Amino acid sequence: MTMMKKLHMSAAILALSTTAVAAQEVEVLHWWTSGGEAAAVGTLRDTLAAGGIGWQDMPVAGGGGSDAMTVLRARVTAGDAPTAVQMLGFSIQDWAAEGALANLDALAAEQGWNDVVPAALQAFSTYDGHWVAAPVNVHSTNWVWANSALMAELGIEQPTSWDEFVAAMEAAEAAGHVALAHGGQAWQDATIFDSMVMGVGGPDFYQAAMVDLDPAALGSDTMVEAFQRMETLRGFVDDNFSGRDWNLATAMVINGEALFQIMGDWAKGEFVNAGLTAGNEFQCFRVPGTEGTVTFNSDQFAMFNVSDPAAQEAQLAMASAVLSPEFQVAFNLVKGSVPARTDIPSDQFDACGQMGMAQLAEAAANGGLFGSMAHGHANPPAVQNAMYDVITAHFNGEYDAATAAAELVTAVEIAQ
Ligand code: BGC
Repeated sequence: MTMMKKLHMSAAILALSTTAVAAQEVEVLHWWTSGGEAAAVGTLRDTLAAGGIGWQDMPVAGGGGSDAMTVLRARVTAGDAPTAVQMLGFSIQDWAAEGALANLDALAAEQGWNDVVPAALQAFSTYDGHWVAAPVNVHSTNWVWANSALMAELGIEQPTSWDEFVAAMEAAEAAGHVALAHGGQAWQDATIFDSMVMGVGGPDFYQAAMVDLDPAALGSDTMVEAFQRMETLRGFVDDNFSGRDWNLATAMVINGEALFQIMGDWAKGEFVNAGLTAGNEFQCFRVPGTEGTVTFNSDQFAMFNVSDPAAQEAQLAMASAVLSPEFQVAFNLVKGSVPARTDIPSDQFDACGQMGMAQLAEAAANGGLFGSMAHGHANPPAVQNAMYDVITAHFNGEYDAATAAAELVTAVEIAQ
């Protein structure tokens, strides 16, 4: 055996022993642990199994604020990266800049990804002109989820303005219901903040503050007003909100305990998983004031550099399956999101899915599509985390609205 061959073999053995990944198997790190999310993971696992690819599950609970990225960092530092990792926006770019991600260009060219993946997603799936991640969906964060029976009982129509939204929550509260189901976790606070910033300031302001990080916008009266709306929302959550998982908040709307939840459309996955139908037992509408805009995030699978050829093949098989039109439909029906391809007909989707697809296309065409700050698509993780701290401290009463806006300016400046 030549020295080269020996080296290759020992590298392969090392890769196998450190990753514990057998031939034709993927180890997937993700934070999809709620009922609806687990069902969505099931569609991917089954699709891969049908192609003879095994699945080693590596779930990290905690929703959008899970420690998945910390776990990942530890694994990579130990020389033991998982084969595929659920990842959002700017994190993909950070890992690509480190040279940690595999190049998917050949597969992308063969399957024409350039032509079907929208530009807003390609901005994150590619680095330096090369494909480094396979997008599985598009979620958006500016949704309200509502219990239809409760709306009927309270005589509430879908609100079309902030004032009507507040009036609806007042009516729910007066009737002894929880007006707004919410879980007090930094990422959930940040998720509703996305919509308050967009609702008060509109698209140009969202761009200036959340994407361009303009200190004048961050510290403006408009931002103070966004924080004041957060205070209004804070007044409508129940006493036990602190630390509650997002899916338990969704369950409160499902079981009629609460009227509304402001949450990304992964919440729809919980309604669907409970056997409920959009437009019947539950309704979705855009957070009043944000109509015409979409704050999006896209779950992508970043493929890490691995040396074992069998693992590389499994990665490509997974990326190929993820982008296939059939899978994009099957997965997103369950997940609550919409496809990451522009060529999928919407007729198989429910009322919320069809609305989501149409509004996404419209927003993309009209300059109304923006990355969600809360979900890593507006600015890099360091800035995002700095924003989380201020938003959560304010939500929990540490700052008044004016102080929060001033703190936001300082925190963002330090984080850059
Ligand atoms: C992800 C969703 C996930 C949600 C809650 C978001 O950041 O994009 O896929 O369902 O977090 O866990």
